[in-house]
Amino acid sequence: MDPFPWTLVRTADGSDTIHDETVNQHYHSTFGAIGESRHIFIEQGFLKGMEQFAAHESRAPACPKPTGNTALQILEIGFGTGLNAWLTLIEAEKRSTRVHYHSIESRPLPEEIWRRLNYPEKAGEERFSRKFNTIHECPWDQPVAISDHFILHKIKTRFEEFTPDEASLHLIYFDAFDPEAQPEMWTTSLFTKLFHALSPDGVLVTYSSKGIVKRALRASGFRVERLPGPPGKRHMLRATCVG
Ligand SMILES: C[S@@+](CC[C@H](N)C(=O)[O-])C[C@H]1O[C@@H](n2cnc3c(N)ncnc32)[C@H](O)[C@@H]1O
Repeated sequence: MDPFPWTLVRTADGSDTIHDETVNQHYHSTFGAIGESRHIFIEQGFLKGMEQFAAHESRAPACPKPTGNTALQILEIGFGTGLNAWLTLIEAEKRSTRVHYHSIESRPLPEEIWRRLNYPEKAGEERFSRKFNTIHECPWDQPVAISDHFILHKIKTRFEEFTPDEASLHLIYFDAFDPEAQPEMWTTSLFTKLFHALSPDGVLVTYSSKGIVKRALRASGFRVERLPGPPGKRHMLRATCVG
């Protein structure tokens, strides 16, 4: 019997995803894993987060900062295949933007599974192919410099037990399993924890646009926008921490 409850699935854009048999959930949209990740987390998340971060930095008072030490602080809920992390590394390098990427995961994928993922061949980013392995091979529970502009801190814990420091983040990728499969991850109380962890004008992006998610985000203090979704999905959400 296969000891792993994960199976590899090919999505419509040719990139792989994982199906987790335990919760009967795919890690990405079956309409395209790379397409979904780029649209939601990079185009609607990372680019917006960078814009807000730059505006914030330019407005910041002339308070002394550690020179050259500022970085866009990102928290991901659900490291999974590492696809969001890897695509963010690529953007950070192309834009010479320093990123400190914290990612929480309760059940890291075994090597036998992540090594079979075809992202390095399918993403058209040959220059960064090897970094996909590096982000998986690097140790958990400590920050590691993966490339010139990208520090990765993979944290093996349950989101429910993790509390980020107040106002310590600029951007959150909320990528838990679907609210129907995991309602305990999409609650007002957990979103309130994330609201307090964001700096003013910080943003949270997520693929789910369900009413229950919108309501929980609003009840936590966020301003919520519904944006066009990736192929196969009408909408996604972006929530802003209006200070
Ligand atoms: C939709 S997948 C994330 C996909 C991922 N962002 C990627 O780029 O491949 C959801 C992830 O959340 C993880 N997860 C589930 N429950 C969790 C919990 N309570 N705390 C932290 N991670 C959890 C799952 O193991 C899975 O890897």
